Amino acid sequence: MAFDTHVLTRPPEGAAADWTIPQGWDDYSAAEHAIWDTLYARQLSLLPGRASKAFLRGVEALRLSDAGIPNFEELSEALMALTGWQVVAVPGLVPDDVFFDHMANRRFVAGNFIRRADQLDYLEEPDVFHDVFGHVPMLADPVFADYLAAYGRGGLRALKLGGEAYLKYLSRLYWYTVEFGLVEEAEGLRIYGSGIVSSGAESVFALDDASPNRIGFDLERVMRTEYRIDDFQQNYFVIPSFDELLRVTVETDFAPVYAAVAAQDTIRIAEIMPGDRVFTHGTQDYARACGAAKLT
Ligand code: PHE
Ligand code: FE
Repeated sequence: MAFDTHVLTRPPEGAAADWTIPQGWDDYSAAEHAIWDTLYARQLSLLPGRASKAFLRGVEALRLSDAGIPNFEELSEALMALTGWQVVAVPGLVPDDVFFDHMANRRFVAGNFIRRADQLDYLEEPDVFHDVFGHVPMLADPVFADYLAAYGRGGLRALKLGGEAYLKYLSRLYWYTVEFGLVEEAEGLRIYGSGIVSSGAESVFALDDASPNRIGFDLERVMRTEYRIDDFQQNYFVIPSFDELLRVTVETDFAPVYAAVAAQDTIRIAEIMPGDRVFTHGTQDYARACGAAKLT
């Protein structure tokens, strides 16, 4: 998944000043709804025993099992009652400040288009399956819902404190939690990151493959670590619980953390550091076979 494509600077024609557009639910074809159903069935066959309890609870609570692409208005109504979040459609990627402002106000911005039938496994831009199936179930969890809203406020603050440089550090936190996070539950490691739970192959790889590192979450460590957007991750970071993720990120003043990260070297993707709590020291065989340039 390569998600850093072109960002416009003004809302395109047909978008509101806040960049939202109608979902256009009535315009989806039967074939498009069927693509959702195929992807949904595949993930549901994989996720019990792999996805975190919070994610699976969210799928149930929001009735994502109902056939077809969810209607954002109905979904928002259900989500609003649970955690105060809504889902709004936007035309692709939006500027950072717009993204953070929506998030801080508990509006999750989602793409409204769905991938084609010949792209079930590969995506260049997040589609409605990634955005809704991948992200929205966790927003039904009150703790994670608070985390993402706090992240939005944190994004606006990072922009003011240090612009693009600080945003880069903050986006690593997003990447290694919201998109590709693992959590330690009583029964073992579980996936909750949207990029994993919405991908059939990575749902298996992230937990079972010997290739990637699995490392205990540490805020500064994560903010220093590069990531890859073009293939399975070479590192996953494991949080002890969502309560702990929320506690650490809300209680920590990021201003000195950004400054500390800026003063240190970047950690290369697959590197294991002294002080890491290592769940898996990955072989990196998969990455090597794919010709990853960033191997240490
Ligand atoms: N506490 C962070 C700050 O001081 C904000 C934040 C909270 C960022 C939660 C991410 C998640 O900027
Ligand atoms: Fe995403």
